[in-house]
This record gives sequence, structure tokens and C-alpha cells, in this order.
Amino acid sequence: MQFRNRSAGSSLPGHIATGGAGVALALVIGILLAPGATAQRYSDPDTLAPAYPTPQAVVERMLALAEVKPGELVYDLGCGDGRIVITAATKFSARAVGVEIRRDIYESTVARVNSLGLGEKVQIIHGDALKTDLTQADVVTLYLLTSSNERLRPVLEAQLKTGARVVSHDFEIKGWKPEQTEKMMVQGRPHMIYAYRMGLSNRGSKPGR
Ligand SMILES: C[S@@+](CC[C@H](N)C(=O)[O-])C[C@H]1O[C@@H](n2cnc3c(N)ncnc32)[C@H](O)[C@@H]1O
Repeated sequence: MQFRNRSAGSSLPGHIATGGAGVALALVIGILLAPGATAQRYSDPDTLAPAYPTPQAVVERMLALAEVKPGELVYDLGCGDGRIVITAATKFSARAVGVEIRRDIYESTVARVNSLGLGEKVQIIHGDALKTDLTQADVVTLYLLTSSNERLRPVLEAQLKTGARVVSHDFEIKGWKPEQTEKMMVQGRPHMIYAYRMGLSNRGSKPGR
């Protein structure tokens, strides 16, 4: 399957934050929501999390815990600079789709994917994670907030096939039981990974397809 990078073309929030390594996303959010900060932009209801990257070591562990296999289709909802989808393609031989709501990030990530010659394996969509068709996904990766995961959960339950895996960095999906959890230290800071499997983790919630 050949991917074309595309834009949903909506009017989207402006710059929120870019990260140096190692500061917890929750701390970034705290700063953003402080009086006088860029809270007005962050309060956009479409925005599920500020831009803050997962350390590369955590990216690789997330994809390993998700048991990504060659040819599988990986979605990163809120893909930022594309490091998860790029790693899924280059180190796990997967096909991958990143969804990013911010146009500036979307454009630079498309440029990055193209400069790496990955246009046939990696697609970047400019759009809203909550409105993404996930019916073909084998694996979904997340680095959003617990409250955003709560909004996303019914979408995942309605669309993901049984056996699909969902892996979330630092923020759990409330109401689901992780198949695995792992704590990693990267540059002296802890990172949690929650790995879920549709049909097992969401039992007692709503079954997957
Ligand atoms: C914490 S960053 C994670 C980036 C990347 N997934 C990673 O782990 O390195 C969250 C990203 O989600 C994007 N985002 C926020 N709300 C979104 C939405 N509704 N749809 C798509 N992307 C969204 C942000 O612009 C940001 O780039």
C-alpha cells in the first residue's frame, strides 16, 4: 500500500510547546495552564495534549511491547515529529500512520518523512485523532493525557478489531486492564508504558469488533 500524506484542512490551534528531553508531560501541562501562559490555546477542545516528544528509548520499548510485526499497520494519534511512526517503519518494518492536529507540526513531519524516503510506508494525516478511522489498525500508540484517553476510549472500543494493541506512554486508559505495564528510567526520569489488547483489556467495558 502506498501512502500519501494529506491534510484535513481544518483551522487548528497554534503553537503550544516544544520540548527538551526529560520533563514530564504533566509538568508541561501545568506550566501551560498557569495564569498568563498559553492556556487559552491549550483550552481548545480539539487539543488532546501539548507537543512533547517521547524519548527514543521509550518509543522503541512501546513498539516492542505492542509486538509490532512486519507489515502491520501502526497508528500514532497525535504524532508530533513522527518519531513513533518513523521507528515503526524503520525498525519494525511496519506501515504507519501519524495523525497530527497542528498544521505546523504536520508540515514539518511530512517533510521529515519525505526526506527519509519513507513516503511509501509512513503517512501523516493533518486531522483530529478523535475523528480518525482506526478500523484497519493493528497497533495504536498514544502519548496524550488520561482525560484525553478517556475521550478516545469509546472510539477505540467502537473501531479497533479484537487483538489490536494499544500502547500508551505515561497515561493509562481508565476502565481498561493493561496486559503489561513497564517502568523505564531515561536520563534519570521515570516513564510508564501501559500495553493493552482489545478483547482482553477492555473486557467488562465494551467489546471490540
Ligand atoms: C505529547 S505529544 C506526543 C507526540 C508523539 N506521539 C510522541 O510520543 O513523541 C502530543 C501530540 O498530539 C497532538 N495533538 C493534540 N491533540 C490532537 C488531536 N485532537 N488530534 C491529533 N493530534 C493531536 C499535539 O499537537 C502533539 O503533537
